[in-house]
This record gives sequence, structure tokens and C-alpha cells, in this order.
Amino acid sequence: MSPPTANLYLVGFMGTGKSTVGRQVARQLGFQFRDSDREIEHAQGKPVSRIFAEEGEAHFRTLERGFIEKDHPTSRCIVACGGGLVVPPGMLELLRSRGVVVCLHAPIETILKRTMHTSHRPLLQVDNREQRLRELYAQREEIYRRTGTMVLTDSRPLREIAGHVLRVYRLEAAQFNK
Ligand code: S3P
Repeated sequence: MSPPTANLYLVGFMGTGKSTVGRQVARQLGFQFRDSDREIEHAQGKPVSRIFAEEGEAHFRTLERGFIEKDHPTSRCIVACGGGLVVPPGMLELLRSRGVVVCLHAPIETILKRTMHTSHRPLLQVDNREQRLRELYAQREEIYRRTGTMVLTDSRPLREIAGHVLRVYRLEAAQFNK
């Protein structure tokens, strides 16, 4: 059987490790790696925080859709998707039409710890960051759960998480396009 070539889209909340895990899995598969935030920043010539501040979140969501529709390779590519990319209606279906979708998951306490001392996420530029994260997490939990296979990224070495994602990818990619 020839090795799978379908893309892999890693979705999930901020701080679940999509970029770290994605890079590792891409190395193991010999695939290209893209991070949707970095690609959009590069194309727009400014950081996500400035896009939010100057053009608004709705515009950023349009840029995310455009990136998924046309601005990345259509095979042998792993995409770490920004945490809100899969949230707007139709985005999960769009991702599924283009490849395998795997959701990374971590408990809210872990996400709080991982994001507490970072400053680049515009949605977390508020006085009460913990409350904001809990609200967003509660709003989105159901959407992330619908995305498909969930892989827990808490308290496990990267090697193990990447191995789990790879197994899921191989199983699901074999069914892709059938
Ligand atoms: C967002 C998550 C961020 C980035 C933007 C909005 C979100 O990506 O796309 O700040 O809505 O959850 P990460 O998940 O990589 O932090």
C-alpha cells in the first residue's frame, strides 16, 4: 500500500500544543508544516494582534478561511490551525474536505498555565485572563468535541503524543478519498 498523502489539520484550543506536535509529526512523515497564524502574519505583514486591533476579529476569520481554501499545499502538508479557525460555521466541513482533522486537547488548568505568561494572543488581552479563557473554553468545547479524534496533550512526552497523532493520521488517511 502506498503511504498516505492527505493533509493533516491539527485543531484545538490555544495552548494545546498544535504547532509543537505538528512540527514533530511533519518531521516524522517528511511532510511540509504550516502554522496558520504565522502564514497569515507573513501574508499581511503584521502580527495577529495588529490584525485584530486594526481590522477586527471577523476579518481575521476571513483570512483564516482564505488560507485554508487556497494558500497551502493540498497534500503532504500538516497545518497547525489557530484555535478559533474551526469555530465559524462550515470551517470543520471545509477542513474535512481537504484532509484528516485531529483535535488536540488539554484540561483548562493546563491551558491556563501554558498561556498565563504569553502576550501575543489578542483574545487574552483582558484584565481577567482566567475568566476569559474559561468562558471561551466553555463556548468552544462542544465544537472541538465534534471535530473528530481527540488526542490528549497533557502530562505526556512529545514523542508519545506525536506517535498517537501519527497512528490516528495513518488510520484516517487510509480512508480519505475512498
Ligand atoms: C485564537 C487562537 C490563536 C490565534 C488568535 C485567535 C483563538 O492561535 O489564531 O489569537 O481564537 O483561539 P493559537 O491557538 O495558536 O494560540
